[in-house]
Amino acid sequence: KMARAGLVAGNWKMHGNLEQNEALLAKVVAGTRALQNAGCAVCVPFPYLAQAGALLSATNVAWGAQNVSQHEQGAYTGEVSASMLTDLGCRYVIVGHSERRAYYDETSELVADKFRIAQSHGLTPILCVGETLAQREASETERVVAEQLDAVINTAGIEAIARSVIAYEPVWAIGTGKTATPEQAQEVHAFIRNRLASNNEAVAAKVQILYGGSVKANNANELFAMSDIDGGLIGGASLIAEDFISICLAAQ
Ligand code: G3P
Repeated sequence: KMARAGLVAGNWKMHGNLEQNEALLAKVVAGTRALQNAGCAVCVPFPYLAQAGALLSATNVAWGAQNVSQHEQGAYTGEVSASMLTDLGCRYVIVGHSERRAYYDETSELVADKFRIAQSHGLTPILCVGETLAQREASETERVVAEQLDAVINTAGIEAIARSVIAYEPVWAIGTGKTATPEQAQEVHAFIRNRLASNNEAVAAKVQILYGGSVKANNANELFAMSDIDGGLIGGASLIAEDFISICLAAQ
């Protein structure tokens, strides 16, 4: 863990407006100015990427998107390409968030294609994996996470994982206020890292694995203290400047 920098990324989901974003980002920039050995990023809705770029360039805060098309370009009405995201200065893009898997029928194969195209344009994908409550109760957590991970390894190759970020987000902990205990999260993070290590130990040692699911200012410290948890992917708390800044500082 000592060798890996921390990372906290906010996932705003479908929230925000120009005025609120400006105030939030100004506070986040000021509050993370002294951040050491940890990165901070915000993944904002597509229409606000230009605003994020204008307010965040030359700061400690990186920005990114929440989704990307699996296609390079073409007649795909409503879609946004990886080259458009790099054009707007994005460093990150979330792929495979459970909300997209569940509500937009994104399969692990589609997520793997999105991961690959994002990387081919120099973006760092934040690959989300995680089980539902029913799957956890049926002891299927490892099988589900392995399937989601293996789809990307098979498509993009194990080396590509070193140039990505993985986020373990148990679906039952997202937006529910029911966070996984540090031990529950660590158990799955270790499983992910071990599975990567069985393919390539150097990649496993290097990749940042974030935890997501009801991370708040008052539980970030104990989560980030676990040996395989390198930071967080933050939903609700990323919309409240003071909370998000505290969480960023906890990842140092
Ligand atoms: O991607 C982050 C997210 O799904 C977690 O959301 O609101 O539980 O922090 P939240």
